[in-house]
Amino acid sequence: MSKLTGSRKALQFTESVIREMTRLSDAHGAVNLSQGFPDFSAPIPVKEAACSAINADDNQYAVTWGQRPLREAVAREFTRRYGVDVVADEQVTVCCGSTEAMMATMMAIIDPGDEVVVFEPYYENYGPDAILSGATPRYVTLHPPTVANATWTFDPDELAAAFNEKTKAIIINTPNNPTGKVFTRGELEAIAALCRKWDTFAIADEIYEHIIYDGQQHIPIATIPGMGDRTITINGLSKTYSVTGWRVGWTISPPSVTGAIRKVHDFLTVGAPAPFQAAGAVAMGLPDDYYTKMAAGYQRRRDMLLAILEKHHFTCYKPQGAYYIMTDISTFGFRDDVEFVKYLIKDVGVAGVPGSSFYKDQSKGRTQLRFCYCKKDETLQAADARLAKLVPATAGRVM
Ligand SMILES: Cc1ncc(COP(=O)(O)O)c(C=O)c1O
Repeated sequence: MSKLTGSRKALQFTESVIREMTRLSDAHGAVNLSQGFPDFSAPIPVKEAACSAINADDNQYAVTWGQRPLREAVAREFTRRYGVDVVADEQVTVCCGSTEAMMATMMAIIDPGDEVVVFEPYYENYGPDAILSGATPRYVTLHPPTVANATWTFDPDELAAAFNEKTKAIIINTPNNPTGKVFTRGELEAIAALCRKWDTFAIADEIYEHIIYDGQQHIPIATIPGMGDRTITINGLSKTYSVTGWRVGWTISPPSVTGAIRKVHDFLTVGAPAPFQAAGAVAMGLPDDYYTKMAAGYQRRRDMLLAILEKHHFTCYKPQGAYYIMTDISTFGFRDDVEFVKYLIKDVGVAGVPGSSFYKDQSKGRTQLRFCYCKKDETLQAADARLAKLVPATAGRVM
């Protein structure tokens, strides 16, 4: 057999469904509510800071682990908000987006055969991240809201059963994509107890830290007692400052693993874009009301899209954070979610992401579909107008 093929690792996963939906949406001129990027402007002072950095010739390789002003801003803000000391020189590594931060972290801590616990449905990158780093994923179900439980929940016994002596880490994404769940202190304490019992890392993807609603509070698992020296917190500029194309993210890690993460990061990408790191340091100095206004803006858009989707007969799971609405599409009578999304893009003119792309066992997501609302009002209104074409079997409801 020819050796001129992709590696076994690369053959184990498909192209990103989320990014594919954007391409399909563009090809058919659909309103794109699939991939999570804003179609409105980034804050003016942040854009100006990037232009100034370029004009000041900050255009060469940055220090591999990140420019000092950004690393110090990351450490300062985490300490200011959550009261946990972070030493920039020993704990902060700037990467090309939180995507690379996650990959560098996994490659830095995982040996082949190590297990990683992942809540399902999950952000689709975690699957390939596990394969590329050699980890064996163990999935724990997040059950959809019911009349008894207003939010997505996991069964503590099921979570406990996923841990064993091979468990190297658990990935926690709060606020969560795709469900909109915000993990409570009680849930994080239960996870932390298992991490301590089995001596495992927690990898906390907190990219939606500031996008949170209805008075909910974001709790970093690094702040739970006993977790500081076993948590790697991942975050970035993309979502908070509406600059997903800049590719700047970071890890905050215990000093004991920072060296390993920095080495992997160095040989993956050398460093993150220099002028955007400079602008990131400025962004992180924005006043607190920037964050409260941003969250209020997203809450308003959430309510707007919820109303639109309900009107067009989707059953919606109301998010507590992040900027996605998971819906149930059983009422439309389609065989599967991918078929429905293709119909939606080509015939109705609105793009979403098939629910199956958030599950290892894709049959679990066949009646689900995710929409994002990090969009201008007119974009959401255009989706509303186009969705009028949809014909349901029964009416939708919010849970
Ligand atoms: C949960 C989650 N983590 C990470 C990312 C990617 O972030 P970045 O742009 O920093 O790579 C996304 C983007 O949608 C996401 O939803």
